[in-house]
Amino acid sequence: MTADFVVVANRLPVNKQTAADGTVTWTRAPGGLVTALAPVFDSQPGAWVGWTGSTDADDRPHVDGIDIHAVPLSAAEVEDYYEGFSNSTLWPLYHDVLVKPEYRADWWDVYVEVNRRFAAAAAAAASPGATVWVQDYQLQLVPAMLRQDRPDLKIGFFLHIPFPPYELFSQLPWRREILEGLLGADLIGFHLPGGAQNFLTLARRILGADASTGPVGVRTDFGTVALSDRTVRVGSFPISIDSASVAAQSSTDAVAQRAAAIREELGDPKTLLLGVDRLDYTKGIDVRVQALQRLFADGRLDPADTVFVQLASPSRENVESYARLRDLVERTVAHINGTYGTAAAPPIRYLLQPVPRDELLAYFVAADATLVTPLRDGMNLVTKEYIACRDDLGGALVLSEFTGAAMELSDAYLMNPYDPVSTDAAIVAAVTDDDAERRRRMTLLRDQVMNNDVDQWARSFLQTLKS
Ligand code: ADP
Ligand code: G6P
Repeated sequence: MTADFVVVANRLPVNKQTAADGTVTWTRAPGGLVTALAPVFDSQPGAWVGWTGSTDADDRPHVDGIDIHAVPLSAAEVEDYYEGFSNSTLWPLYHDVLVKPEYRADWWDVYVEVNRRFAAAAAAAASPGATVWVQDYQLQLVPAMLRQDRPDLKIGFFLHIPFPPYELFSQLPWRREILEGLLGADLIGFHLPGGAQNFLTLARRILGADASTGPVGVRTDFGTVALSDRTVRVGSFPISIDSASVAAQSSTDAVAQRAAAIREELGDPKTLLLGVDRLDYTKGIDVRVQALQRLFADGRLDPADTVFVQLASPSRENVESYARLRDLVERTVAHINGTYGTAAAPPIRYLLQPVPRDELLAYFVAADATLVTPLRDGMNLVTKEYIACRDDLGGALVLSEFTGAAMELSDAYLMNPYDPVSTDAAIVAAVTDDDAERRRRMTLLRDQVMNNDVDQWARSFLQTLKS
């Protein structure tokens, strides 16, 4: 069976659960991309092409409402394509070279091979004239490979991470190939106008393409790259969350009770601070714990009545830079607790495990401030989830200027994570400003998040692609 709408992403929207008796069930995975695209599947049937996340070739995932096409990866391919080229070359290069990218021809070869497999699977899943939407940095060659096979398709591409400027991108030995891969699409989307602008400059300077030079707007004023036989459009589409549904899920009595219980379990601190991230070196988890260390040391925050909860979800654990970051965070947390805590009441609580959805929402409702301090982040959905959970207008958001979210959420307590003075000042202001000022800011943040949801993101991208 083929479909008129096909999503192609590195990961499938499924979770594998194996019961004690070995029975396997598949459920719809939570998480950003799935939540973002689920409403699109509700209004039209469609297929999803992606990897199960395991190397078990016998996996046959299925979920209600989406036609799942699993792309198998061998253990060696996971190493070279996923941990290697995707997460040790592209991820650090696109995130400001926070970690030195490794350029290895053997990884590149496997990246090409795996992208070809995804393109072939997408071609097999798509009906004549279908719309195919390719997602993220793991699959940048798929648009051109797919077009070669299936010129009848409408092809969109969206990048969920930052797109770097010429000065960084041009390090990549395969820079031409990546740009040509992306130009196989009819529409290329980035979160921010700056990413779109970077792409247009690169197409001009590296490929000598006829790319527009005017400014790109948010969901408007698209850039263009004129090729010999067609024109590719380039635009900014900031992603969001299903704001109304997160707000509804977080405003139940059960969540309110759990939020109160969390504060009590933590010893009823005067101030409860929260961090929620994949354990990734881009997220600035080290930035915020080092800030807390300074604030405890100089007495601007009292460790006796402050608790900081860091919910960290393990990520890409076989990549060395992730293991190094984990060591740094764990050493710093232990040092702060050892120095400023008591045996009964350490000021930092650190969980290295994904937290169930309802529990996460209860933490958002309980927190006096959430610290979102990345050194670089394409958007950061945690920010929007926290805001959507605060229909009480309580809480405060400390937000790094180096996130995509900062463009829309200028009423947060913005900080520069490279500047300790700015970081400390934002945290202190967020917890000591009076309630009126905190509510004023949260009101403006909520207006933004409740009025710009993920449905608008998907609809605006797909309408532009079809027009
Ligand atoms: P990224 O996509 O880089 O991980 P985002 O902030 O955009 O960053 O999205 C992360 C998603 O993962 C959010 O939906 C967030 O709620 C979820 N998440 C992150 N950390 C945890 C955790 N420790 N437990 C449960 N969910 C988490
Ligand atoms: C970011 C990327 C996604 C990726 C997610 C989780 O959001 O943009 O493409 O799926 O992180 O990372 P993982 O490597 O576990 O898929």
